Amino acid sequence: MARRVQVVGLGGSLRKESTSRTALQTALDGAAADGADTELIWVRDLDLPLYSAEHAPPPAALRFADAVHACDALIWSTPTYHGSVSGSFKNALDWLILLAEREPAYLSNKPIGLITTAGGVQGLQAVNTMDFIARSLRGWSVPLVLPVPQSWQSFDPDGHLKDEAIAAQLRKLGAEVVRAARQFQAAGTCDYA
Ligand SMILES: Cc1cc2nc3c(=O)[nH]c(=O)nc-3n(C[C@H](O)[C@H](O)[C@H](O)COP(=O)(O)O)c2cc1C
Repeated sequence: MARRVQVVGLGGSLRKESTSRTALQTALDGAAADGADTELIWVRDLDLPLYSAEHAPPPAALRFADAVHACDALIWSTPTYHGSVSGSFKNALDWLILLAEREPAYLSNKPIGLITTAGGVQGLQAVNTMDFIARSLRGWSVPLVLPVPQSWQSFDPDGHLKDEAIAAQLRKLGAEVVRAARQFQAAGTCDYA
C-alpha cells in the first residue's frame, strides 16, 4: 500500500489575524480530508533572519529545510504585497538554498499548490511570482490556483474565512495537491490527467 502523502503548508503573513494563513489552513484541511498528513509552517512562527550566505544557518532554517525536503507536496499561501509575494514569504523560500546539495535537489518531484489573499484584485500576480519561484526550485506548480481577491470581504477582522464558496475551492486545491503527489508516488511523475 502507498505511504500516506505528507503535505507541508508554508505561508501566512506576520499578522496574528493573517488571512493568507487561514486560507492555507483551509487548503490543508482539504488535503487532510483526502487522506494526507499535513503540517502548517507559518512564517510568523518561523521568524527567520534575512537570508545571508555569510552566517551559519540558524536551527530554525535547518529544521524548515528538513521539513520541506521530507514532504511529498507543498501548499504556498502568501499575502499579495505590492503586486507580488511578501518579503517574509520570499525570505523563507530563499533559505531553501539549503536544499541545493540534497538528493534530489531543492523541490524536485514535489507538486505545489499556490494561494494568495489580496486586498484588491492583483492576486494573480503573486501567484505567477510563486510559479516562477516554484519552477526555479524544480517544483511542479499545480494548475489549479487560488488568488482570493478583496480579502476584507471574505474574511472577518479576526482573519476567519466567512465565504463558504472560497473555503470549498481552497479545500479542492488541497485535494488536488494530494492527487498530484499520489501520481508522483505511483509513477514518478505527474500528468495532471
Ligand atoms: C505592504 C502591503 C502591500 C500590499 N499590496 C497589495 C497589492 O499590491 N495588491 C493588493 O491587492 N493588495 C495589497 N495589499 C493588501 C493585502 O494583500 C491583503 O490585505 C492581504 O489579505 C493581507 O494578507 P494577510 O491577512 O495574510 O496579512 C497589501 C498590503 C500590505 C500590508
